[in-house]
Amino acid sequence: MDLAYLSDWASLLIRWLHLITGIAWIGTSFYFIGLDNQLDPPRDGNPRVKGEQWAIHGGGFYRKEKYLNAPAQLPEKLHWFKWEAYWTWISGFSLFMLIYWGQASTYLVDPAVMNLSPGVAVAISAAMLVGGWVVYDLVCKSKFAENERNLSIFGVALLVVSAFVACHIFSGRGAFLQIGAMTGTIMVANVAMVIIPGQRKMVAAMQAGQEPDPKYGRWGKQRSVHNTYLTLPVLFLMISPHYPMTWSSDWNWVVLLAITLAGALVRQFFVLRQIGKNQVMLPAMAIAVIVVLAIMLMPKRGPDIAGMEVPSFAEVQAITASHCASCHAARPTFEGIAAAPKGVRFDDPAQIRRWAQAMRQQVATEAMPPGNMTEMTTEERQKILAWVAAGAKAD
Ligand code: HEC
Repeated sequence: MDLAYLSDWASLLIRWLHLITGIAWIGTSFYFIGLDNQLDPPRDGNPRVKGEQWAIHGGGFYRKEKYLNAPAQLPEKLHWFKWEAYWTWISGFSLFMLIYWGQASTYLVDPAVMNLSPGVAVAISAAMLVGGWVVYDLVCKSKFAENERNLSIFGVALLVVSAFVACHIFSGRGAFLQIGAMTGTIMVANVAMVIIPGQRKMVAAMQAGQEPDPKYGRWGKQRSVHNTYLTLPVLFLMISPHYPMTWSSDWNWVVLLAITLAGALVRQFFVLRQIGKNQVMLPAMAIAVIVVLAIMLMPKRGPDIAGMEVPSFAEVQAITASHCASCHAARPTFEGIAAAPKGVRFDDPAQIRRWAQAMRQQVATEAMPPGNMTEMTTEERQKILAWVAAGAKAD
């Protein structure tokens, strides 16, 4: 049984699960932040109730109430929200291990950035995953964080430092996923280590006939708000592997920060809109950031091909044969690759021409070959680009 083939199935099933649980988790996060922001004053005079909301959904009417601290009595049944978050992390971390750790020399390491052995790269990656949470959590619990502004400044600083460090250690693509995984880990740890334990203490106090300490509610709410601002950035980071233009430049850590900022601005717009403030400047700024990025990242078309002689198709075939077709073939020979990645093949003339534009993009940004592991030269890249620019003809 072919291990690489099995690993493709594992990857598909875990990714599927990851998407489903992630949607459920982020859906509840959006839902409850929205609910909190759109409560009307309570109508039935219960002094313990903070607010209520009437809603209609799926053909039914709903009335929801939020309590200031807790109801007078613990209800018999209490619905908890935690498995969405836990399974998102379990599946996400499994995928990360399968792909970025299991195939570190392809996905995590780029010798042009730092020539790490796969083992060292994985160790640094793991240390950063744990370290990010530990530092964030310590600061959140410190006196320093009592001031919301301090905490925001710290959050931004932590992100800037992590992005800079990751992008100078790992491949661009690996660095983006690393920051995504660190952020996701912080979000899940907020649930597992702060929100849920606090809620357990609240419930235990009520079972003992006492009023729960409101500090647990405050702490939980703080982490839940952090999580909501991280949702859009983390989702961008998770889909970024498809878009080499975001992570392949020398300034990729700045690009990461800029797109993260744009995501957080858009989330802030929706949060404020829920409380009746329409700050269109926020999404306008997010769009401006993206437009500036798009202009700055406009490819200088990789290596210069002005005035170059167009290579023959035979030459192009020779280049793809030695640099691409070990992986991109009907039957890949590269260890660990079971089927042509993304269905992209360079093992026959029609396929080479069919994938010419995709080839141009990958070759110009140096996203392919991964980590330039087949040591493709600039001259070879220029030839491919010149051939595509001249219409990708088969002579
Ligand atoms: C070591 C194996 C390997 C080699 C060599 C390799 N690739 Fe890839 N290629 C991959 C993998 C793995 C993916 C899928 C990446 C992913 O999961 O996003 C991929 C994806 C692609 C894609 C699709 C990108 C997308 O996101 O749609 C293109 C196009 C591509 N490669 C072109 C090339 C070209 C051109 C070469 C030679 C210059 C090359 N590759 C060499 C492994 C390889």
